[in-house]
Amino acid sequence: MAILKIARMGHPVLAKVAAPVDDPGGDEVVRLVEDMLETLDDIGGLGLAAPQVHVPKRVVIFHLPAARAMVEDGEAEAVQMTVLINPVIEPLSEDKNFGWEGCLSVPGLRGLVPRYTHIRYSGLGLDGGPIDREAHGFHARVLQHECDHLEGVLYPQRMTDMKWLVFESELKHVMSAAAGEREAVKA
Ligand code: NI
Repeated sequence: MAILKIARMGHPVLAKVAAPVDDPGGDEVVRLVEDMLETLDDIGGLGLAAPQVHVPKRVVIFHLPAARAMVEDGEAEAVQMTVLINPVIEPLSEDKNFGWEGCLSVPGLRGLVPRYTHIRYSGLGLDGGPIDREAHGFHARVLQHECDHLEGVLYPQRMTDMKWLVFESELKHVMSAAAGEREAVKA
């Protein structure tokens, strides 16, 4: 096990389309996932995609602790740490909403990003077994953010108004102003 170095915005690995994993239970993938779990635990984020640790493969890990789900959605739709290999996302509604996102590869910044509010996602677990879930709200947002990493897309590329790309330390100044816009604007 090892704590891995995080690629930051501008590194070419973050702009690549990641390759599918052929052998989900293979030693190489198991080791990669172990290291990603240790790295995420060390940094304390919600999710991590393999390209963020310089491995251009279609692997993401994520979780949503109850306390965070409560803050973001006002309800405790907690999600246990999940390993998802070769994930596929399908929007179940055209509706999008705006929410603040950050990214370990874009340290210190936050941005207001439109995302689908209701999705289905599927893929394989580390044991090769199928995972097939529906997600709403912040849970759906986290999945869209992580899976974008597999397409070489970072959240600023999804933003519709760069006015809302701010330093984390200044977020408190813009949150209420942005909240009005979140309601008013349909992506
Ligand atoms: Ni990210």
